[in-house]
Amino acid sequence: MRNLLVTGGAGFIGANFVQYWLQRGVEGQLTVLDALTYAGNRSSLASVESDSRFSFVHGDICTPGLAESLLRERRIDTIVHFAAESHVDRSISGPDAFVTTNVIGTHELLKAARTVWLQEQAVEGPVRFHHVSTDEVYGTLAPDDPAFHEATPYAPNSPYAASKAASDHLVRAYHHTFGLPITTTNCSNNYGPFHFPEKLIPLVIVNILDGKPLPVYGDGRQVRDWLFVRDHARAIEVVLERGRVGEVYNVGGRNEWANIDIVKLVCALVDERLAADASLAARFSASPASRGAAAESLITYVTDRKGHDRRYAIDATKIESELGFIPEETFETGIRKTVDWFLSNEAWWRAVMDGSYLRWLETNYAPSV
Ligand code: NAD
Ligand code: TYD
Repeated sequence: MRNLLVTGGAGFIGANFVQYWLQRGVEGQLTVLDALTYAGNRSSLASVESDSRFSFVHGDICTPGLAESLLRERRIDTIVHFAAESHVDRSISGPDAFVTTNVIGTHELLKAARTVWLQEQAVEGPVRFHHVSTDEVYGTLAPDDPAFHEATPYAPNSPYAASKAASDHLVRAYHHTFGLPITTTNCSNNYGPFHFPEKLIPLVIVNILDGKPLPVYGDGRQVRDWLFVRDHARAIEVVLERGRVGEVYNVGGRNEWANIDIVKLVCALVDERLAADASLAARFSASPASRGAAAESLITYVTDRKGHDRRYAIDATKIESELGFIPEETFETGIRKTVDWFLSNEAWWRAVMDGSYLRWLETNYAPSV
């Protein structure tokens, strides 16, 4: 039994993790701490709100003393730390929030864990600080380079990646210096239900349905290694249960795709669904398929992201061989599930595309030159 504090549990991966964890029927309480920034949506947690093990605290991880009192009062023995500013493009237009939340916020949590767990010894039994990080801390790969492994030197290129790298180093230092029991996972790109529609895959799905341009940065040949979000939740569970304290585990899908190929695949899947279902075609009447055209006609090349990393790929040998973790979802099944989820959950994505989302779209995209 564990009492969890899940920071950022109203975000994309956090909400999927919370649902997964509670569906397993485990004992113990689960508290979500989330500031509900533009990327956090309480509605993503609707399916667990009535669960007696679940509670929600609306708060900022940077607030001094907040995490400390939650750990003490709720006898929390496990922190799963997702809360972060997570969108690379936003880190280019406004890096400050990334340093604040990702670096200072992570440090506040580490200080709280050290105080309550190590100095006061206020919680009985084993404790764990699990830090959720990204493959982007390793920088970029050339086409034939070997994939990132746990010993690949850090070389973060975007302010987002640099702020995550800094947080990884602090987590490592709190283990090395103070003996805080930590684990870290560095995961590749996730996709799936509840993905905020500023990111590539959900953006492409909702823009097809609304008949809007599909913005592809630069030549579209950048490569990412995609993992279904529920497999990421499973990987974190496995590391919590069997991972060695103080260790880092890379998590990935062994599933490299160029952006343009993903965009074309999603176009084909949405076209297929709308062609097969007249009620869907009627509901999404602005989409090309509803007038017999192809979604690919919406593809629009736009100015490349500054400092755009060319390729990410994860070598997941350590978590596979040491902990027996293998993703369950193939990309073929996962991407279909994702498209179907967005077709069935229009109310969710319409609601999260509020004023701040629309302002972001207006400022982020410029025509290709
Ligand atoms: P997200 O942007 O969808 O969600 C982030 C959540 O954190 C939101 O609910 C937001 O409200 C909350 N939050 C932000 N600032 C906060 C603060 N100061 N205090 C409390 N809550 C705050 O992000 P995501 O895609 O779910 O990513 C979750 C974590 O996983 C991040 O740490 C990210 O670096 C890491 N990660 C993401 C991916 C990916 O593909 N999305 C891949 C690997 C690792
Ligand atoms: P994103 O989902 O932002 O994830 P990350 O940058 O963390 O990998 O972007 C995935 C890839 O898709 C990345 O190479 C940037 C590219 N991209 C586009 O081409 N167009 C878009 O509108 C967005 C949001 C991303």
